[in-house]
Amino acid sequence: MNRNHQRVCASPEWAAQLVSDVLSPLSAGVPLGPELLEIGPGPGAATEWLRSRVRSLIAVEIDPVAAQALRARFPDTNVEVVTADATELPWPDASFDTVASFTMLHHIPTQHGQNAVLAEALRVLRPGGVLLASDSRPSDSLHEFHAEDTYNPIDPAGLIARLQTIGYGRLIVEVGDRWMVRAHKPADGERIR
Ligand SMILES: C[S@@+](CC[C@H](N)C(=O)[O-])C[C@H]1O[C@@H](n2cnc3c(N)ncnc32)[C@H](O)[C@@H]1O
Repeated sequence: MNRNHQRVCASPEWAAQLVSDVLSPLSAGVPLGPELLEIGPGPGAATEWLRSRVRSLIAVEIDPVAAQALRARFPDTNVEVVTADATELPWPDASFDTVASFTMLHHIPTQHGQNAVLAEALRVLRPGGVLLASDSRPSDSLHEFHAEDTYNPIDPAGLIARLQTIGYGRLIVEVGDRWMVRAHKPADGERIR
């Protein structure tokens, strides 16, 4: 993350906006289950809100400095922070009820890598589990915001096909100022036509 990101993503205003515009609407009516994996938590804007809705939250963060800061923010809680690359998650298949990832996928430099993150999320989900994700839409201003930083935004127009090709079942994509997706791993025996 560059300095712009650190400033914005660590602010209370960002956390409040993430809750009101993304987390609340995206998770409305969705049972999150006891075990949630958050991918790319950064300073933890979503972590704080999500952790009070599940029994345990594991956050996987590639940046060891950000991971250590998040550990220090949530000592002796239901949050465990693991330093790892989400393109190769260090958990067996079907380990989590929910996988959540916000404002993160544009940091993956290639489409192949983004698909690997989405595929790993599907792999570690239990059958019937759900991926909740969102990110910004591509824009010139965000390109400038990411000066000297990775900026590989996802065009939401192709997202449904990408998720279906990877193996997700029922899914909803909403596109406004940003895109948001709720995508289910097919339950055992469920057939998606
Ligand atoms: C812009 S921050 C978003 C933080 C938070 N999710 C939010 O919405 O405020 C993206 C985070 O994803 C992390 N990240 C980038 N690539 C990753 C990867 N391959 N695996 C795990 N985390 C990654 C970055 O280090 C950064 O902390």
